[in-house]
Amino acid sequence: MKSFRLKQSFPDREGVLVTGCSSGIGRATALYLAQQGFTVFATVRKESDAEELRAIGASNLIPICPLDLTQLDDIPDVVATVTETLAHRGKSGLYALVNNAGGGTVAPIELMDLAHFRTELETRVLGAVALVQAFLPLIRRVQGRIVWIVTPATIPTPYVTSIHACDFAVNCIARTLEIELASWKIRNIMIRCGGIDTRAARQTNARIEAWLETLSPDQAALYSSALHNWKDEMKRFDANRTSPERVAETVFNALIARKPKHRYMVGHMARFANLLELLPQTWVDAVLVRRFRR
Ligand SMILES: NC(=O)c1ccc[n+]([C@@H]2O[C@H](COP(=O)([O-])OP(=O)(O)OC[C@H]3O[C@@H](n4cnc5c(N)ncnc54)[C@H](OP(=O)(O)O)[C@@H]3O)[C@@H](O)[C@H]2O)c1
Repeated sequence: MKSFRLKQSFPDREGVLVTGCSSGIGRATALYLAQQGFTVFATVRKESDAEELRAIGASNLIPICPLDLTQLDDIPDVVATVTETLAHRGKSGLYALVNNAGGGTVAPIELMDLAHFRTELETRVLGAVALVQAFLPLIRRVQGRIVWIVTPATIPTPYVTSIHACDFAVNCIARTLEIELASWKIRNIMIRCGGIDTRAARQTNARIEAWLETLSPDQAALYSSALHNWKDEMKRFDANRTSPERVAETVFNALIARKPKHRYMVGHMARFANLLELLPQTWVDAVLVRRFRR
């Protein structure tokens, strides 16, 4: 690993809370940060996942269960547990909050399952903001950091709107918080991930197949061939996905850097997607219309 200019206290068992640690990016990040010496509060929804993390036997990896971000009533207990544990360990505040939890489905907007979409918006946007509100007093005490796991660019991408609409919103929130919290030097850091090899990514194809089966003949006539084409194109992308451990290292680097960047890029095609964001929106939109027109 490259050398970094470290914060003075690094990591000295500073507390970091990571959401969605049952699998993928969240789990890899929680394990890696704990290995590097942070005290990690790893939130999960199911007791079996908490048990599994406990079984690792690291005293500085503390599963927190349940935290379902669609259930805002879960949050006060989480804050109480974290506050108490930090105090017990001689810490007055939380050094970082890593907003990672999320799911998402693949469907054209016309046929998107609104219940799924609502769940995703609640998890990635509303729940994450509620968590920020709840933890800011603890974060402010130690001039901590808020990390957002997001896709690499805010560009319109067909069939993944339930994911990307949340990313547009999260980008807005992270950028605005960077301004609103500047007076307290609380940094908001976006980890912009390209294709990462996780459970969510591996399940996508099977989910599309299953979903296509549920379409009426009229709906299938509209979108079935486009989605089959998209699925075939995604095979090559999927074969090149980056391991979630790379994201974990990037989060670690963002946490220990004396002057962290506002955006980090990691994973397959992240830089390319980010480049598209820098081009004029009207031009990108026109290219995408031509590219996806049937
Ligand atoms: N994989 C990629 O290529 C990629 C790229 C860019 C950004 N991302 C973002 O990275 C994040 C993690 O994705 P991943 O690929 O690591 O997926 P993953 O392996 O499926 O992990 C998702 C995690 O989020 C948790 N979760 C889902 N809904 C939740 C809710 N309502 N409340 C609390 N926890 C919830 C899941 O818990 P359960 O096990 O209980 O469901 C799981 O722990 C997502 O926000 C995703 O949008 C992923």
